[in-house]
Formats: sequence, structure tokens, C-alpha cells
Amino acid sequence: MPGITPLKKIWQDGRLVDWDAARVHVLSHGLHYAYSIFEGIRLFDTPSGPAVFRLDEHLERFVNSARIYRMRLPYTTAQLREATLDLIRANGLGEAYIRPIAFSGYGVMGLDPANAPIEVAIAMWAWGPLLGQDGVDKGIRATVSSWTRIDSRALPPQAKCAANYANSALAKMEARAGGYDEALLLNDKGMVAEACGENIFKVKNGIVSTPPASSGILRGITRDTVMRIVNEAGITFQRTDFTREDLFTADELFLAGTAAGLTPVREVDGRPIGTGAFPVTRRLQARYDELVHGRTPDHPEWRALVRPPA
Ligand SMILES: Cc1ncc(COP(=O)(O)O)c(C=O)c1O
Repeated sequence: MPGITPLKKIWQDGRLVDWDAARVHVLSHGLHYAYSIFEGIRLFDTPSGPAVFRLDEHLERFVNSARIYRMRLPYTTAQLREATLDLIRANGLGEAYIRPIAFSGYGVMGLDPANAPIEVAIAMWAWGPLLGQDGVDKGIRATVSSWTRIDSRALPPQAKCAANYANSALAKMEARAGGYDEALLLNDKGMVAEACGENIFKVKNGIVSTPPASSGILRGITRDTVMRIVNEAGITFQRTDFTREDLFTADELFLAGTAAGLTPVREVDGRPIGTGAFPVTRRLQARYDELVHGRTPDHPEWRALVRPPA
């Protein structure tokens, strides 16, 4: 697991502060009750300078997560956008992972966060692919978790809330302890939902499919990008439920997420997936790569330039 190397600045509650000065109180409400929502965004080098990939969609999801949790964000989307770009300029990196977070802060205790102040921070750091560059290149080994993916009647999976990640962490730890790279979670109906921090795609007989939003997933922005790429390439696409057995019999499987990128799955519970060649996945990976790095003029609206031309 890649560690974090400190950078210069973190944006905290309206201003840029030194990295080491970005602290929270141990009695912060959100630390105790997980009333905390966040985002994971990536910055990429492009021929026009560093650009944030789909920044507006990430901030929209951030605001929606807050809405689901009745959290009153003290900043507008435009202010958060500007803060993100200011932070990037202050740290001077061309490629990075960006983490906005909002949580119930210090001052009240007890379950109801209504009277807690909402603290907001944006941090960034250099981070390689979550499941490793080796995973992106050669594919990872996955296992179907014994943990069930959270159900929207218990915790809304479409809000990117810290609480959801206790479910992901249990599955992840179990998978790692068993010698696997990643866990795949089934939902309460036994259908495939997603991985710990990525959505899943299957390729079978030339058709690309992914479980629907109703399967208990986070509606991934990478998932949306992949669906757009697939449609634009004229590949048949289905948003459909699939079973654990469908994983074993797939021609190709891959995971899609901001942190992980597009990572092939080469094995599930000891069963090799397809021939191991992943031709469709490789094609989609290449297209994703040229889009995030702006090596194509297509979809300029997806790349928020840190220094737009005057
Ligand atoms: C549980 C979960 N599913 C899917 C994703 C992929 O979402 P995105 O592509 O927006 O990063 C993430 C990452 O944020 C996640 O945490």
C-alpha cells in the first residue's frame, strides 16, 4: 500500500494551511459517529498542463452526499471548485489524488449531528493506482467476500459516507488475509454489487455489462466514463444484475474507480478469468488513459485545467 508523502498545503475551513497544521480535535463528532462525507478525485498531466478529471461531477456527488445526510455545507460548489484549484496551484503537483472531506466537527457529542459545526478540508497527495501498477498491467486476484454489501435501507451506498467504508474495510481485510488483492461484494439478494472501492464490469461474448445503481453500489464517475467510452466505441452495453457464477464464466472482468483506474481481474477465488488476454479491457484502458491525460481533443469538458488559457 503506497504511503503518503507530505506536501506543502492543505485547504481547511476556508484557507490554505501548512500540511502539519491541518489538525482536528479528538472529540470531533464525525470521528466518533462517521458523520463524514468525502470524495476521491484525480489530477492528471495533460498537454495543456495539469487538469482535474471530471471535477464538476465529483463536486456534484459531494454535494449530493451532503444532502442525503442533511449536512449543510458551509461552502458553495463554486467555492469548493476554486479551493481545489487553489490547493493544486499551492502544491505545484501535476499528478495527484485529491480528497475533499466534510464532517461534523468539535463542539457537541451524542448521535444527532444537527448542532455540530461542519468542518471541510481538501487535501491532495501523490498516489499511484490503488491496486498497484502491477494490477493495472497484469490484473489482480479477487475473492467474493463473506461480507454483504450494505443495503440502502441500512446505509445509502450512493452517499460517499465514511460509514460505508467500514463495510469495505471488513471485506478488504478478509481478502488480504486470504492472500487476495481485492474483495468483490454481493448484495443482500446475492447479486454482484461492487468491489471495496471500485465498480465492476464484465465482458461476455463481446457485451460489456455492469450492475445497475440499484444493486447497492456507489454510482462511480469512472463507471460513468467507461459506459460513455463503451457506447461511443459502438460496443454493446448492458446495465444488468449478475451472479457470482457469471464472474467465474466471464471472458473478462475489470474494476473501475478513480483511485484504482481500470484494473483487470485475472482470477476470482482460484478460477482464472477468460484467457487472461483482456482485449476489450485493454482497449478501454487505453481510451481512458488518453482521455484523462488529454491526449485526445474529445470531451474537453471532463478536464478542468488548473491554469486555463487567458
Ligand atoms: C465503494 C466504491 N465504489 C465505487 C467507486 C468508484 O467511484 P469513482 O469512479 O467515482 O471513483 C468508489 C470510489 O470512490 C467506491 O468507494
